[in-house]
Amino acid sequence: MKILVLGQGAREHAIVKSLLRTGTEKNDILVAPGNGGIAKQVVCETDLDPNNPLDVSKFALEHEIELAIIGPEAPLVAGVSDALRSQGVAVFGPSKLAAQLEGSKSFAKQVMAAAGVPTAMARQCKTLAEVEQAMEDFGTPFVLKADGLAAGKGVIVTDDAKAALDHAAQYISMGILVEEFLTGPEVSLFFLSDGVSVMPLSPAQDFKRAFDLDQGPNTGGMGAYSPLPWLDENFVQQVEDTVALPTIQELARLGAPFVGLLYCGLIVTDRGIRVIEFNARFGDPETQVVLRRLITPLESLLYKAATGHLDSSPEATFSPDKAVTVVLASEGYPTTQADVREVSGIEMAERVKGVEVCYASPVGRVLSVVAVGKSFNKARKRAYKAISRIKLDGSHFRSDIAAKVAE
Ligand code: AMP
Ligand code: GLY
Repeated sequence: MKILVLGQGAREHAIVKSLLRTGTEKNDILVAPGNGGIAKQVVCETDLDPNNPLDVSKFALEHEIELAIIGPEAPLVAGVSDALRSQGVAVFGPSKLAAQLEGSKSFAKQVMAAAGVPTAMARQCKTLAEVEQAMEDFGTPFVLKADGLAAGKGVIVTDDAKAALDHAAQYISMGILVEEFLTGPEVSLFFLSDGVSVMPLSPAQDFKRAFDLDQGPNTGGMGAYSPLPWLDENFVQQVEDTVALPTIQELARLGAPFVGLLYCGLIVTDRGIRVIEFNARFGDPETQVVLRRLITPLESLLYKAATGHLDSSPEATFSPDKAVTVVLASEGYPTTQADVREVSGIEMAERVKGVEVCYASPVGRVLSVVAVGKSFNKARKRAYKAISRIKLDGSHFRSDIAAKVAE
């Protein structure tokens, strides 16, 4: 089947690697725009703008694409899925309307309220005065969220009222959600959805803060591991029943069926599971560890979801191996942007047993080193051995990814 993957990050590289690993022919995959690492494996169409609905659907028709897989949120919010679907292309990625689940935190809250999905209490604020009042009512630590896409930087969790208000001032034009603070371990759980039924993938944990011991600002994610051996046995089923299915059903009822990947960002509190965010796409870097363990052919899973036949598919199966990914970030990330510098040693890193490198971009989150092993200890050791071989001036990475689970 001819497949087009849209996007250019380490997540898209992980999707391509997973397609190849689970049986898709190399010549059947096109990526737009892709990146230097992806281009070493499959053909990349660097000139195609993945956010332009007309250009993408024209390209898909010309190349007789049978399945389009949309990686990032930007093309979804730009309506690329809708344009492709209207041309008869099977698309793994929700419509512009359904992608509001990620694009608008207030829309997500409305859907959850209507579907009875447990989430943090929140208040929508349109002015700084309303934000200040809500902060007073909710108390510390303050949790403030920009009500729109902010590249993983829209959320602040702090005891510092001034920092919270400065953050609010920066994003007030989008609207701000002030939210109840929740504590507990975080879980990222992905569901494939065909608009009616859902299928869970394997849970992962993301490390969102920039520095060790969860210090520093929030980032897009500095590392991840999968599976999560400390979860209750029925955790996945519980999230399917109380979060994923009710959400998908509510979106269908609203006339916005969700076809694609429902990313449930969860906190396991003393009082039960709570949703802290939904995304409408695969998470980055969680995808690097989740898909690394996938055994079922990814192509067939995504095609069934895209064409409304998920219920005819057996559950996805995963290797019992443990997977750990560590992200290498350029100097100053996420606060300042470094200039483009040379990265070397990637081939040496990939010589470590069980290791693969997913490329992203020369600045920001530069690449993800992904390692598997029979134990977390083994996988971690391999990941850190490999990343120590990669050289990039001024770069940094967290040294505590999966440290606790490996103990
Ligand atoms: P989000 O972009 O919504 O995933 O938020 C980024 C990070 O902020 C999350 O991964 C959590 O660590 C933290 N966070 C978000 N909402 C809450 C909340 N209600 N209580 C505590 N921490 C939160
Ligand atoms: N790793 C968090 C995200 O993809 O949004």
